[in-house]
Amino acid sequence: MAGIDYASLIPNNVNLDSDKKLQRALEKWQPAFLDWWNQMGPEGFQAHDVYLRTAISTEPGGWAHFGHVKMPDYRWGIFLDAQEPDRRIPCGDHAGEPAWQEVPGEYRNILRRIIVTQADTEPASVEQQRWLAQTAPSLYDMRNLFQVNVEEGRHLWAMVYLLHAYFGKDGRDEADDLLARRAGDADKPRILDAFNQPCPDWLTFFCFTCFTDRDGKYQLGALAESGFDPLSRTCKFMLTEEAHHLFVGETGVERVLRRGAQLAKLDRNGDARAQGGIPVAMVQKWINYWFSYSIDLFGSEISTNAADFFGAGLKGRWAESKDYDEHTALDQWQRMQVIEAGKLTEKDIPLRNAMNEVLRGSYIKDCERVVKRWNQALEEEGTDVRVSLPDRKFFRRQGIYADCHFTPHGDMISAEEWQARRGEWLPSEADRSYVASLMHQVTERGKIAQWLAPPRKGIHGNAFDYEYVRPPQG
Ligand SMILES: [Fe+2]
Ligand SMILES: [Fe+2]
Repeated sequence: MAGIDYASLIPNNVNLDSDKKLQRALEKWQPAFLDWWNQMGPEGFQAHDVYLRTAISTEPGGWAHFGHVKMPDYRWGIFLDAQEPDRRIPCGDHAGEPAWQEVPGEYRNILRRIIVTQADTEPASVEQQRWLAQTAPSLYDMRNLFQVNVEEGRHLWAMVYLLHAYFGKDGRDEADDLLARRAGDADKPRILDAFNQPCPDWLTFFCFTCFTDRDGKYQLGALAESGFDPLSRTCKFMLTEEAHHLFVGETGVERVLRRGAQLAKLDRNGDARAQGGIPVAMVQKWINYWFSYSIDLFGSEISTNAADFFGAGLKGRWAESKDYDEHTALDQWQRMQVIEAGKLTEKDIPLRNAMNEVLRGSYIKDCERVVKRWNQALEEEGTDVRVSLPDRKFFRRQGIYADCHFTPHGDMISAEEWQARRGEWLPSEADRSYVASLMHQVTERGKIAQWLAPPRKGIHGNAFDYEYVRPPQG
């Protein structure tokens, strides 16, 4: 029977026992990680018992163990998906050659950079979310927040393992730096912009886990297609955990929308606010903001870096091995909207240079599916109001559209019109303070904040009123 291996300091399926040097390096990093967790992890709840899922192996169906645990005692382990026999490099100039089991010397620096950039997002989101439990709308939601937090911590472990195991001294230095940067800090910020934005309220948290964690899903998917086999196997297992984060985000926004629609129906004037809810139109502004920030994370539409990563076989497209027959991406083109002389026009870009945009396209399709489900929920609630994704050119700070202004429909507008109208599309100060005013902690079993609908079911077969988070005993 599967259980947690309490004998080992670092649960793993990478034979740490037989590699004493690596084990020592990781055991040295562990106290620094715990210091960071105690300092920057969920504020005020480190001594609570939380009903958490812990990864104990990667066997299908048997990898998770559920039970109450104090977060600092969570078993942050190192798990890679099983090695695929005779795996080949899926794409690029080396497609078909045996996958690398060691870091290829010529790609050492860019590979390290790719891993560090992914790794940096993991502790960053824990830092962004550290105050949220103070305003958790229910014990169920508080538990989900903590589950996401400990798993982002485990994702950091997964990436630090790669740095320690394959990149020598440089890798160990990078691993230390991952605990030194801080989300939103002016002097030592996190690497990517979305991971320096504050996460002050639960609507933001749900949008973040829906849209920004979903960027993570697509980046991990592209890295699961890497020719560097240990990275591929690490990312495959991280993806299984990521699915829960996306569930928290997608169902979270859906529950805000349902409640907003229900409360509007209850109100004489159809005003959800008068009943303590968040109007659907206000949720739309949060969607606009976080969708735009998240698609920035894919990088520039036209990118020589992206071409190099693909050509080297370090990063593939989403489902590269499964969904594509042709894996060099040479002599192919991607049609794209570009801006020339201040006007939008269409242009064919060499496919390798368009790989960021190709991945962004896969991501947007996935988001469209989510929005469809939200609109089904709104229909079930008997309202005509619908939500939508803004155009990919709207409110961009990175890439070829960043210097111009666009409406959510994708029409180019002047800077003056943008200034005059941005409050229609993005959260205003007044919107933010209204949402902030709704955020109050609810810790009574089975109770939930007014602005949020309860979930359809609880976690792991438990009821909604289960005691998912217990205060410290004694
Ligand atoms: Fe993660
Ligand atoms: Fe995540």
